[in-house]
Amino acid sequence: MTRKILVTSALPYANGSIHLGHLVEYIQTDIWVRFQKMQGHQCHYVCADDTHGTPIMLRAQKEGIAPEQLIAKVWQEHYDDFAGFRIGFDNYYSTNTPETRHYADDIYLKLKQQGLIEVRAIEQYFDPVKEMFLPDRFIKGECPKCHAKDQYGDSCEACGAAYQPTDLIEPYSAVSGATPVRKSSDHYFFKLSDPRCRDFLKSWIAPPHVQFEAANKLNEWLEGGLSDWDISRDAPYFGFEIPDAPGKYYYVWLDAPIGYMGSFRNLCDKQGIDFDAYWDKLKAADAGTEVYHFIGKDILYFHALFWPAELQHAGYRTPSGVFAHGFLTVDGQKMSKSRGTFITAASYLKHLNPEHLRYYFAAKLNASMEDLDLNLDDFTARVNSDLIGKFVNIASRAAGFITKRFGGKLADGIANQALLDELQQAAAGIAGLYDAREYGKALREVMRLADLANQYVDEHKPWELAKQEGQEAKLHEVCSVSLNLFRLLTLYLKPVLPKLAADVEAFLNVPPLQWNDAQTLLLGHAINPYAHLMTRIDPKQVEAMIEENKESLQPAAQAHSPARHAEHQQHQTQGASPHPNPLPEGEGASVGAIAPLVSIDDFSKIDLRIARIVNAEHVAGADKLLQLTLDIGEGKTRNVFAGIKSAYDPEQLKGRLTVMVANLAPRKMKFGLSEGMVLAASGESPGLFILSPDEGAQPGMRVK
Ligand code: 2FM
Ligand code: ZN
Repeated sequence: MTRKILVTSALPYANGSIHLGHLVEYIQTDIWVRFQKMQGHQCHYVCADDTHGTPIMLRAQKEGIAPEQLIAKVWQEHYDDFAGFRIGFDNYYSTNTPETRHYADDIYLKLKQQGLIEVRAIEQYFDPVKEMFLPDRFIKGECPKCHAKDQYGDSCEACGAAYQPTDLIEPYSAVSGATPVRKSSDHYFFKLSDPRCRDFLKSWIAPPHVQFEAANKLNEWLEGGLSDWDISRDAPYFGFEIPDAPGKYYYVWLDAPIGYMGSFRNLCDKQGIDFDAYWDKLKAADAGTEVYHFIGKDILYFHALFWPAELQHAGYRTPSGVFAHGFLTVDGQKMSKSRGTFITAASYLKHLNPEHLRYYFAAKLNASMEDLDLNLDDFTARVNSDLIGKFVNIASRAAGFITKRFGGKLADGIANQALLDELQQAAAGIAGLYDAREYGKALREVMRLADLANQYVDEHKPWELAKQEGQEAKLHEVCSVSLNLFRLLTLYLKPVLPKLAADVEAFLNVPPLQWNDAQTLLLGHAINPYAHLMTRIDPKQVEAMIEENKESLQPAAQAHSPARHAEHQQHQTQGASPHPNPLPEGEGASVGAIAPLVSIDDFSKIDLRIARIVNAEHVAGADKLLQLTLDIGEGKTRNVFAGIKSAYDPEQLKGRLTVMVANLAPRKMKFGLSEGMVLAASGESPGLFILSPDEGAQPGMRVK
């Protein structure tokens, strides 16, 4: 029977780069989706950028652009990163869209009709300078327990204590530095404490809707009593204004999962799919459609409590399953910027083959919420031994003979099919493992079969048969068996290695492999000449990637995986803590300590000038530098090496104005003399930004 499945991955925030922590989830989901499609099922995979909230609003302000511009820029980066890793979304959209607004309003109004929305005044910290309420993560101060300075409003990174922002000693706004004041305003709450929500969740929280381990955790939270959920935020806020509440906006976490519906609606409209068959409670039951959300374990609370409760009481279908995975560690530790293990998707792609990471993650993934470790030495060793040593090797050992000796044609018949039978019979077992998200087990089975295939080649030694008289038929059979074994292994690996599989399909001259092709063999079939399929990892590539990700200027910067939740805070009115995990930093408001005071005299010693970038070029052998030729109106140009290669294409820079330090002592560098310095901004989040003067500034003007 053809299944009709809608699959989602969590929507990444539109203010940070995709990193390997995120990719665990997208790769896990993509493998599942590709597998279902190979089975012939109708499977739609949608995602979107999660675009709303305070951090995005503030970052846009900092960059001097509209939030819409920021989210458009980040959308493109995310889109390119995902394409680079061959994440095959059927639709990659945004939450800042009419479709998402429509379903957010619809769900909100239906919950209100049900008497499940309540308005209550709450008191919160307010920044009197920025005139905005401050999310917990944007309030800092001294930890009430251990007295560490500059801790966030919800938890202390020094001692791990969790508290309310009002507990902080000498609080200050991380946005403006001002001392926050307490101020009351009306907030809209979804009444999760209502018996209807509790009773529904009590019966809903169980396998197969959630994993066993997740059910235990969720039931604990449920037993502890659910707090009503604050779903509104006051202006200024980048989000959707609540229809009947001017100046109030939906909290980003209210519209984020609704973004799944928004993205799917957009796909339905483009492709004529029946949206209601997936989301309308009654129609979905009739149509037998399934909806699965792949998420990280840190957002289980939102997806397995709030989300099904909202859907249930707004007349929509609830998810068939919420699949949570663990976090990524690198070499056994949290990803870290100072160690260079906070690896962005873009930097990985610069150095390494995306399918190598897909394979490694898959080899380590299972259906549990356990954390997954990327051990860099093991990564290199395993990819080289499994993919190159065991898998690709089979084809390269047999293909040449078929081309040279048999006109590129496989044998018409095969006398001894025992091993082929064994590989064909493995199809159902491997399929079961993919479907159950036990990818590690699936790949172990595939590698066991690859070992058998190699033994076959070793035993039959085609290279010797080729030298012996009268062994033509035998050689033809051995090579044809080998390539059929290779074809079956490719089919089993295809959900994990889509590009490699496509290259093999071209080599074998066959249409895209589907799962039931495992039941047939290629006989009397013309193949194309073998072309190189995959290259080994050189450990130097891994080292170069780690080097590139090291932020030596910020030794203390640590990143959690996945980096999330500046906006995760919520206002509690009753019941147990809603925080399923301590809140990682990532999209936080950290601006670093301000340097000690200097006098105006000290400052005026620095001669800053407007400079025109006359020329910009790569520097042979330099990883980080660009060579700039700058004109500051002196009648000659200056040569400056700037560490901005990671952020700028030299072509983009030519002709631009920027700011340089004109009286910095010249410095002899490996690549030549540097006669000054250009200024660039950077923070904890990736990115490097050179300065531009306002229109009208001329080269040589002093900046003071
Ligand atoms: O944790 C995060 O990164 C959120 N942006 C995930 C949202 S998932 C869904 F609810 F939209
Ligand atoms: Zn503390």
